[in-house]
Amino acid sequence: MKIRRAKDYADMSRKAANIISAQIILKPCARIGLATGSTPIGAYQQLIDWYRKDDLDFAEVVTYNLDEYRGLAHDDPQSYHYFMRKNLFDHVNIDLANTHVPDGSNLDAEAACAEYDAMVKAEGYMDLQLLGIGNNGHIGFNEPDEVFSKGTHCVDLTESTIQANSRLFDRPEDVPRQAYTMGVQTIMHARSILVIANGDAKAQAVYDMCFGPVTPRVPASILQLHTNCTVIADEAALALCPL
Ligand code: PGA
Repeated sequence: MKIRRAKDYADMSRKAANIISAQIILKPCARIGLATGSTPIGAYQQLIDWYRKDDLDFAEVVTYNLDEYRGLAHDDPQSYHYFMRKNLFDHVNIDLANTHVPDGSNLDAEAACAEYDAMVKAEGYMDLQLLGIGNNGHIGFNEPDEVFSKGTHCVDLTESTIQANSRLFDRPEDVPRQAYTMGVQTIMHARSILVIANGDAKAQAVYDMCFGPVTPRVPASILQLHTNCTVIADEAALALCPL
């Protein structure tokens, strides 16, 4: 695991965008696993900026998002489908047919997850997987558990995740209680992984991910076993790490 220190959110975002952009330049048809949440927004803005300057071309890029709330329509402003269009896809020349997000509008969890898994597998998994990390060490919506999850599956969100995400909803009771998420095993199949984290609320999770025991109680800790994983975190998120 390579750990890179960033000065602040802007620096973290630019460093992360550099890695994503390098992947696209090296392989224009790269398969990139994307994340939602507050953390990647700055990196997406940087990528949009480089696209507008003609330095980046998304024409052949293929994307797979990590997760989606169960029960939200694609055009629901709280859905991750909507988030991706608003924060990236609508601003670059990506072919929307090449973008994929688990289908939260399909309430048949088994069918929705099996379909997503089959697509990811048929693609041959991701060239680069971008990840944020939850305050409780989750990646995607893989919450602390007794075992590491395998493929795409439906999860009951933990109270801590519901609380953390309630800032994005008008009322806490509006936060969906379930989500479809790529499994840990699927994430680990990516050829390279980039984790980004900022702010002191992430400091314990970042320490546990990088220096704690590898345990499904901290899903991100398994990334210690990946052969090509880079963590870019700002000073606040690295505050507990012995670097
Ligand atoms: P955040 O979420 O980027 O909104 O902090 C990260 C995550 O929960 O994976």
